[in-house]
Amino acid sequence: MSNARVTLQELVENGHLNTVPDDFLVSEEDRVKLEDGSCSLELPVIDMAGIEGERRGLVVQQIRSACKEWGFFQVKDHGVPLSLMKKMQQELRQFFDLSYEEKSKIRAKTVGDSLPDEGYSDRMSHKEGRSSNWSDKLRLYTLPVSGRRYELWPTHPPSFRETVEAYAEETDKLMRRILELISDSLELETSHLNDYFSGKYQQVYQVNYYPSCPQPDVTMGLRKHSDNNVLTLVLQDGNPGLQVRKDGQWITVKPVEGWFVVNVADQIELLSNGRYRSVEHRVFVSSKPRISLATFHAPTNDTVVGPIPELLGPKERPRYKACLFSEFKESFYYAGWAKALTGKGHL
Ligand code: SIN
Ligand code: FE2
Repeated sequence: MSNARVTLQELVENGHLNTVPDDFLVSEEDRVKLEDGSCSLELPVIDMAGIEGERRGLVVQQIRSACKEWGFFQVKDHGVPLSLMKKMQQELRQFFDLSYEEKSKIRAKTVGDSLPDEGYSDRMSHKEGRSSNWSDKLRLYTLPVSGRRYELWPTHPPSFRETVEAYAEETDKLMRRILELISDSLELETSHLNDYFSGKYQQVYQVNYYPSCPQPDVTMGLRKHSDNNVLTLVLQDGNPGLQVRKDGQWITVKPVEGWFVVNVADQIELLSNGRYRSVEHRVFVSSKPRISLATFHAPTNDTVVGPIPELLGPKERPRYKACLFSEFKESFYYAGWAKALTGKGHL
């Protein structure tokens, strides 16, 4: 059987992998150690109930401190219906439970040297050096509506499209509310960040399927990285896997039904001139499969990204160079995952 023709999930489920192949091995320093995640610190949890009323001031303060101290937080009472979150999760699982032949109908195509960008893809057919994450992916562009390529969306389960459409609308509203709170916390106009990206942003889904792993201590579901977009909303299933770097330690994020994990990504670090931080995170694997959906709020390639002038006082010089988002991404990819934080145009 040729490895290029099947996904990691397929190989695992058919019993072809009793050990982790060399392609997936990570270096000693990047492996999960016993002490990682054993720390009792937990991500801040922000209750978004009543943010239009008298709780707003408190929530803005909590957002400010979470963005500064963690670059990550969890949200509850955020307005996205629990039933929709569960339906989304269930239908993603149903998609990954389909046969390989069925899933491959929307298989991402690789054009030339570039990595596949949309559709279902497996890590095993990826380029050398890019294959070592223990995961398969489904990637979709969901907003703006005009950018949807429905031919790459799953048609099973039959309600999938409708569920994604509803989820896209609800999560977009939530992202905008969070960006308003972040704007307030930076003492900008409430609409500042949304206006900044107005007409110039995309919502992109990355569904990560982490198959059961025979040797979880020698590989990673997702190696350490920071996200290059504006804000990421993560919907995880009940199995832990996500770890966030905090003061040099790796903290495991406890999955809680109905909550989202919010990641302040690179563009918020850039726009805020480093007041807020885009923090490294990674995903470990285990003997249980895990599914997560990362919803990215991302600029379009032609968006100019750089520190917001209103935030620069007479004594504060810009710490990042303004550039196009497409240029930023190039430096991000060429710098490599681990170096992403230093490779993004610091002056
Ligand atoms: C990520 O998108 O970086 C991680 C998502 C997950 O928890 O699997
Ligand atoms: Fe990430």
